[in-house]
Amino acid sequence: MNEPLLIIKNLSKSLKTSSHNIHILKNVSLKIQHQSNLAILGQSGSGKTTLARILVGLDKQNSGIISHISRNLNIQMVYQNPYESLTPHMTISELLQDHTTDIEEIHFYFDKLNLKSSILNSYPHELSGGEAQRIALMRALLLKPNLLICDEILSALDSMVQKQVLELLKETQRIKHFSVLWISHDLLVAQNFCDELAILNGGVIVETGEASELIQSPKHDYTKKLIHAMEWIIS
Ligand SMILES: Nc1ncnc2c1ncn2[C@@H]1O[C@H](COP(=O)(O)OP(=O)(O)OP(=O)(O)O)[C@@H](O)[C@H]1O
Ligand SMILES: [Mg+2]
Repeated sequence: MNEPLLIIKNLSKSLKTSSHNIHILKNVSLKIQHQSNLAILGQSGSGKTTLARILVGLDKQNSGIISHISRNLNIQMVYQNPYESLTPHMTISELLQDHTTDIEEIHFYFDKLNLKSSILNSYPHELSGGEAQRIALMRALLLKPNLLICDEILSALDSMVQKQVLELLKETQRIKHFSVLWISHDLLVAQNFCDELAILNGGVIVETGEASELIQSPKHDYTKKLIHAMEWIIS
């Protein structure tokens, strides 16, 4: 079904410091389609996390509109820092059972994400960054979102686990039909996992388009530089 789930129009965000205004996002407009994957690519500090935080209501824009086209839109976010969403005084088992009573479902995700059941009795600070990231992803999926925002969720994971996470996302998407807003620096993943890309530079969307087309023939100079830099890192 190719219709928007959510439309972002002219979103701007700035912050006042004692001496000046910082413009973090400038007139960002985007559409997130039903059952599709959109990646936002941009260098560090370009405003990716700020945009995600506004979409889940953790931050507020200064101007611009976010229209939920789909009724009952359930947006869940997996944070760049997974510990942010894991209450420190709850065990992993309690944190998961807070989101589902279906123990089978928890076992399904543990198996798919290659997690040891021994961590169920641990507290978040006792987990590695990669384990915490997978638990945070599980918790978001257990709430059955129709839009999942993934903010740099692969950076703490080794390449085998990255592959397992991407396979799980693809498999659950096939069954549960949700959209993903994928925030990343990783060109390869964005190209393989996403239908569309949006390039963010200094808070401005400079280019959007179908993933492989945009990577093969970028139009904007910044996109060309970004892709060149990413390809250099891969090679
Ligand atoms: N509370 C704040 N106070 C001051 N500056 C802020 C605040 N939040 C964000 N910024 C600034 O806004 C800009 C965008 O930050 P944001 O975290 O959205 O970037 P990002 O694209 O997610 O970067 P990264 O890839 O490093 O995660 C940065 O320059 C950041 O320093
Ligand atoms: Mg960020």
